[in-house]
Amino acid sequence: MTSASAFGKIILFGEHAVVYGRPAIAVPVTQVRATATIAATKDARVWIDATDLARRYALDEAGVDDPLAKIIWLTCMQFSVEPSNFSVQIHSTIPVARGLGSGAAVSVALARALAKHFNRTLSGVEASALAYEVEKLHHGTPSGIDNTVVAFEEPVYFVKGKPVETFRIARTFMLAIADTGIAAPTKIAVGDVRRAWEVERARFETLFDEIGEIARKARNSIERGEISSLGSLMLKNQALLQEIGVSSEEIERLVDSAIGAGAEGAKLSGAGRGGNVIALVDEETWEEVTHAMKRAGAVRVIVTEIR
Ligand code: MEV
Repeated sequence: MTSASAFGKIILFGEHAVVYGRPAIAVPVTQVRATATIAATKDARVWIDATDLARRYALDEAGVDDPLAKIIWLTCMQFSVEPSNFSVQIHSTIPVARGLGSGAAVSVALARALAKHFNRTLSGVEASALAYEVEKLHHGTPSGIDNTVVAFEEPVYFVKGKPVETFRIARTFMLAIADTGIAAPTKIAVGDVRRAWEVERARFETLFDEIGEIARKARNSIERGEISSLGSLMLKNQALLQEIGVSSEEIERLVDSAIGAGAEGAKLSGAGRGGNVIALVDEETWEEVTHAMKRAGAVRVIVTEIR
């Protein structure tokens, strides 16, 4: 039996604008992960056991848009092997459709586990490229940031179509990641932004430029250990996300409650409309901010150190 895991992720700055070629920053979240286990079997058919979804099905019966089947086919093709005589079990602690990269993590975990099973090596670039193909099922025009940060397991400064840049966090900082409890498929928010951009291109291009500029400044601050300037950048980014139409009442409530309880900044993370809100906290504020966000409707708050 072989198994492999992949961590979740969050986008710190630049979501949505990244789809339009602007830079964005994402980091791994090591408290949550997807794990894939491959077992050799006597049965020629490949069985997929998606434990959390209580689904068990055969690879050859899966639809063309099944993400687990797709990553198995693609990885086996990459290794030039016929998928047979193994079973796959997937388990994930990453909440689905909350901007934590659950889809990308499941793909990367499965590709890594298959590589181990077939005694092959799989680089970060290869794992990311395979997972990217599956991301296209989740929404038609993925920037590639999710699969990249999940496969590289390092902070990334990501520009679509450019070589991956990982970078150093000069000073550890803390984030509270609050789940709105609302599953928000990336596809819908990304599709809505595209339609709005088609109607008002000039305005949206300017908004995307401003978001890109924030991501650039944030990288500089993080690399210099100037964590105090991140709070206001988060709030500026959040205001722009609101303008492009991907915030929501629930998100705003969590952002306001975090700031009211002492967080230096807060914003939605990921596609928006639901999903997660991230708040910049420290040793003194994290407890109060966590309680405040729970009182304001968060169903779960994860406090994580970004290092
Ligand atoms: C989703 O995690 C981030 C978005 O920017 C979409 C993408 O980058 O593909 C909303």
